[in-house]
Amino acid sequence: MKKRDTWASRLGIIMAVAGSAIGLGNFLRFPAKAASNGGGAFMIPYLVALLLLGLPLMWIEWTLGRYGGGFEHGTAPGIFHSIRRKNRFIKYFGVIGIFGPLVIFIYYSYIESWTLAYSIFSLFGKLSPISDQQTMQSFLRGYQGVEANGFFSSILPAYAFFLVTFFINMGVIYHGIRGGIERICRIAVPVLFICAVILLLRVLSLGTPDPQQPSWNITNGFGFLWNPDFNALKSGKIWIEAAGQMFFTLSVGIGVILTYASYLSKGDDVTLSGLSATSLNEVAEVILGGSIIIPAAFVFFGPDTIRSIAASGTFNLGFVTMPLIMNRLPVSQLFGFIWFFLLFLAGITSSISLAQPAVAFIEDEFNIGRKKAVWIFGIVAFILCHFPVFMLKHGVVDELDFWGGTFFLVLFATIEVILFAWVFGIGNAWDEMHRGADLRVPKIYKFIIKYVTPLFLLTVITVWMWQEWLSVIVMKNVSAVDRPYVLGTRIVLISILAALAIAVKIAWRRREKGGDVNEA
Ligand code: PFF
Repeated sequence: MKKRDTWASRLGIIMAVAGSAIGLGNFLRFPAKAASNGGGAFMIPYLVALLLLGLPLMWIEWTLGRYGGGFEHGTAPGIFHSIRRKNRFIKYFGVIGIFGPLVIFIYYSYIESWTLAYSIFSLFGKLSPISDQQTMQSFLRGYQGVEANGFFSSILPAYAFFLVTFFINMGVIYHGIRGGIERICRIAVPVLFICAVILLLRVLSLGTPDPQQPSWNITNGFGFLWNPDFNALKSGKIWIEAAGQMFFTLSVGIGVILTYASYLSKGDDVTLSGLSATSLNEVAEVILGGSIIIPAAFVFFGPDTIRSIAASGTFNLGFVTMPLIMNRLPVSQLFGFIWFFLLFLAGITSSISLAQPAVAFIEDEFNIGRKKAVWIFGIVAFILCHFPVFMLKHGVVDELDFWGGTFFLVLFATIEVILFAWVFGIGNAWDEMHRGADLRVPKIYKFIIKYVTPLFLLTVITVWMWQEWLSVIVMKNVSAVDRPYVLGTRIVLISILAALAIAVKIAWRRREKGGDVNEA
């Protein structure tokens, strides 16, 4: 058996987990969600979700990951199997912990490549001549290959940037945990914080840029985002959106942190480290993410326009409104570059974490070397990435985001918490969590993890099934033109799930044949 990679330092893994957590979700998804869900009132369900779902799952994944790593398992099938060896089926639940990250990776890395492209476009002034929403929107649509126009005649430039981004990602994981992931996160995370602080200061100094509109000032800009509309709390949607955002932003509930934590050693702390990574993410999300895009858009466009932009899609605020704002500032090319480069750094430190579970699975369960495992993953992921690249306009990205980034995330989180608190047993689990711990978690969390988190999650799933299941299955909200594409995506997803389940079966059969009785 070859030796598994490890983290070089404690700071290294905290930076890597923070890097995974801090991503496009913090700077694009969070502000849009808050603005369209009651403003400051959104923070109530958001905080509840942080304390009752996010933080417990962060600790659960760090603990289970480290535990599984002790048995040379870095992904959910092996980790779940280690919890209850007698049960032959438990490992199949773990398939979602490889499937989910892979599905998110497929579209996330493509969107990440736009940020690289736009940072170059900004730097070289390609966006500078554009001064209105419509034209900036056509630029984006042209780039995405959604429409052919004067800016782009084909999707080729987008494809080229996708290739570059994809190869950078593969290059990082090719160098392993400490040589690749840890090295890049230790630099990229601080740099992205610096970029975000520069932008934050710039936004704070905006004042009232349009003298015709004295109420469009920066104070009101913050008020627009943060003034609470408590009425919004009555709708069930805001609670589900807050829970979904919490999982997505912390990268928990999908298997990624499990894999990172599996490279820890038995006596390494998980409680304080997990809390530190969570705190870094929350600072980046609420303080930095919440202070850039919305207040800036407010002072230039006012409340009505911003509402319609926020509602029209997550990407419009980031890729259409932000460059327009930059164009009205001095040294626009530099600030535009900082914005998109910040997004790129945030994106890449997240996408490498999405790639690692599949790579770890191949390495650990098939005893294949890292470099070969990266090649296998690379070829499969590369083929799959073509779906979002070429079928964006047919709703493929939304479909992948729904299954990978929402549905399976909540489902897998539920499975994890039940296994942790009820199958592993909360007593065992609590001891395991506090092995080598530098922070004693308040006792109340024993109760929360055992009862509150699972009940909360089961309620969310049940309510959602009740209200939406049928319309999702019959594709009620999908246009007739897009249906074949959405259906095709679903068939591909089911095939991936099946292939992974078969891979798990083969891996375990080989192990049994190999006479590793302990493991079988
Ligand atoms: N947390 C990342 C973000 O906020 O953009 C996205 C993400 C990364 C989600 C890794 C899930 C994951 F496993």
